[in-house]
Amino acid sequence: MDRLVIQGGQALRGRIRVSGAKNAALPCLAAALLTPDAVVLSNLPAVADIRTMVKVLQALGTDATLEPQGEGFELTAKLACTGSDDPKAPYDLVKTMRASILVLGPLLARFGKATVSLPGGCAIGARPVNLHLEALERMGAVIEISHGYIHASVQGRLKAIDHAFTKVSVGATENILMAAALAEGTTVLRNAAQEPEIGDLAQLLVKMGAQIEGIGTGTLTITGVERLHGCEHAVIPDRIEAGTYLCAVAAACGDVVLDRCEPEHLRALLDLLERSGCVITEREGQDGRQLRIQRECGQKLRSKDITTLPYPGFPTDLQAQVMAVMTQACGISVINEGIFENRFQHAMELERLGANLRTDGHTAIVAGPAKLTGCTVMATDLRASAALVIAGLVAAGETVVDRIYHLDRGYAGLEKKLQGVGARIERVGGGRV
Ligand code: UD1
Repeated sequence: MDRLVIQGGQALRGRIRVSGAKNAALPCLAAALLTPDAVVLSNLPAVADIRTMVKVLQALGTDATLEPQGEGFELTAKLACTGSDDPKAPYDLVKTMRASILVLGPLLARFGKATVSLPGGCAIGARPVNLHLEALERMGAVIEISHGYIHASVQGRLKAIDHAFTKVSVGATENILMAAALAEGTTVLRNAAQEPEIGDLAQLLVKMGAQIEGIGTGTLTITGVERLHGCEHAVIPDRIEAGTYLCAVAAACGDVVLDRCEPEHLRALLDLLERSGCVITEREGQDGRQLRIQRECGQKLRSKDITTLPYPGFPTDLQAQVMAVMTQACGISVINEGIFENRFQHAMELERLGANLRTDGHTAIVAGPAKLTGCTVMATDLRASAALVIAGLVAAGETVVDRIYHLDRGYAGLEKKLQGVGARIERVGGGRV
């Protein structure tokens, strides 16, 4: 099993190119199930979750190829889904990636039936799929759960609904948006999630011939069509990847330019880092927009409070990384996790590195600045792993981050990109440490 070995204490200087958004790429891949035509998706990050989703699509009767793009941190997928007599997303794949549930809506809408394994437990808390299933049932699907699988079918086409989600859910919004694109009539989705990744999926669907109004808002109106067609689409830059590198510089000091990012999608974090004392500049680059972050060595950081909320609130996917930053800020920072029940597993590992913090239910209190010292820590989930890497970049001496397969699910070439800005970080095979 690979580990990352980090020698901390090095300021970060240089440029990092941001890859495509994993959380936009996954629903866009699932959307290829909605048409028999070729769908070509580029700027997909070269991460394990993308390969898993492509395997899921192949299991469902899709011809799919994945080719490296540019420096190899991105991939292009060519997909054509002719379908299968018995479309089934098997447990072995779904258990490794919960986003596999996103195939349910498209399969039902196009083929009238689907079998998808229930995703099961998750390290960051209960993650049910009731919101997905309730909306699909209202659209006319008959759903039965047996032997760990969701068996869904519909007579004829799915029917349009006027539906208010009882809770804001990124995945449920995406699943029902895709289903509604091929349903009969005009669907209105209220209390829809507004994350930029949903906007990207909606833009792809429009290119495929879908009729969608209200993109980027909490109310989506979708007039179903009988058939969608193929298209080409490049997914948006990954705001969480960009945010992770911004946090790395905020914590470890330095001066880094992020190429090809979208500052508009990062307002909550940019605002927090500026109020903490970092200098952030935005400009138009040759290859998309750029963000520059500066925190000179010795410059103090001020602690700030955050509460994670649905977009445009502070993203839960950056909570762990910001906690690592706040270990270096002067004063007390109160961090409220407003989305998931159990998303502080990184806190104990940060404490092992010397962080001064306490958690109580949904709240963590961080007192800084703390002197961090390197040790071996264990990654528990994707974003927790990123927080431990950030803390390792700050800590005196050597930090070993174990179980980095979590990190490989969502970050393309993390250690290479950090090496490029001067970090002393190396990937080492399990047997060699
Ligand atoms: C997506 C992101 C994930 C991010 C999360 C919240 C992808 C692939 N993953 O996950 O990185 O952390 O949004 O921004 O895009 N819920 C229910 N019932 C449901 C569905 C969700 O109660 O049927 C609850 C969840 O338990 C959670 C909350 O709603 O407490 C938000 O979850 P949701 O937005 O659905 O997250 P995902 O789409 O799984």
